[in-house]
Amino acid sequence: MFHLRREEPEDRWEVEALYDLCFAPGREALSSYRFRDGVPPVRDLCQVARDGDDILAGAVRFWPVHVGADGAEALLLGPIAVHPTRQGEGLGALLMETGLDLAREAGWPRLLLIGDAPYYGRFGFATLAGVEMPPPTNPARVLGLGDWAGIAGPVTAWRH
Ligand SMILES: CC(C)(COP(=O)(O)OP(=O)(O)OC[C@H]1O[C@@H](n2cnc3c(N)ncnc32)[C@H](O)[C@@H]1OP(=O)(O)O)[C@@H](O)C(=O)NCCC(=O)NCCS
Repeated sequence: MFHLRREEPEDRWEVEALYDLCFAPGREALSSYRFRDGVPPVRDLCQVARDGDDILAGAVRFWPVHVGADGAEALLLGPIAVHPTRQGEGLGALLMETGLDLAREAGWPRLLLIGDAPYYGRFGFATLAGVEMPPPTNPARVLGLGDWAGIAGPVTAWRH
């Protein structure tokens, strides 16, 4: 019913409109967006899901970030959203699993996201102790997957 493919430049404004619909107004004021300003996403991982009529139903994007004093590389997952009329059909899980498979294939050792542990726990994400997002992020919503052993400290923007 849904087909996933890489997000292309022509998808951009539809994806932005979907995010505007699914998130609270002012989403771009969130601290996580400071890591996206002026930094290109990891294009090969960003996915759009369309239905049989080519209507956009969901999307996920990924950005690179650094963590801690040694600048460990990590992938920031998100935003991820599914259109309200398409939620609860497993599309969020399909976007998550596809994105995570692509990230692993591309060799990213660890992922990070800001979200609800009850949802993301089913994909293996768990609260990351010691990884700091800028305030006012609730530390319990800073979740990680992959090899985080020995990595702690502030998240910082990707350095080109
Ligand atoms: C979160 C989101 C992407 C999930 O997409 P989806 O296609 O509805 O997800 P799935 O169909 O794979 O899974 C649905 C299940 O997740 C649960 N779920 C959805 N959002 C949840 C949340 N924030 N916390 C806990 N559980 C959640 C649903 O209750 C449902 O549970 P069930 O499987 O026990 O019935 C979608 O709800 C969405 O776009 N929400 C608005 C934007 C958003 O909050 N994005 C995430 C930012 S952290």
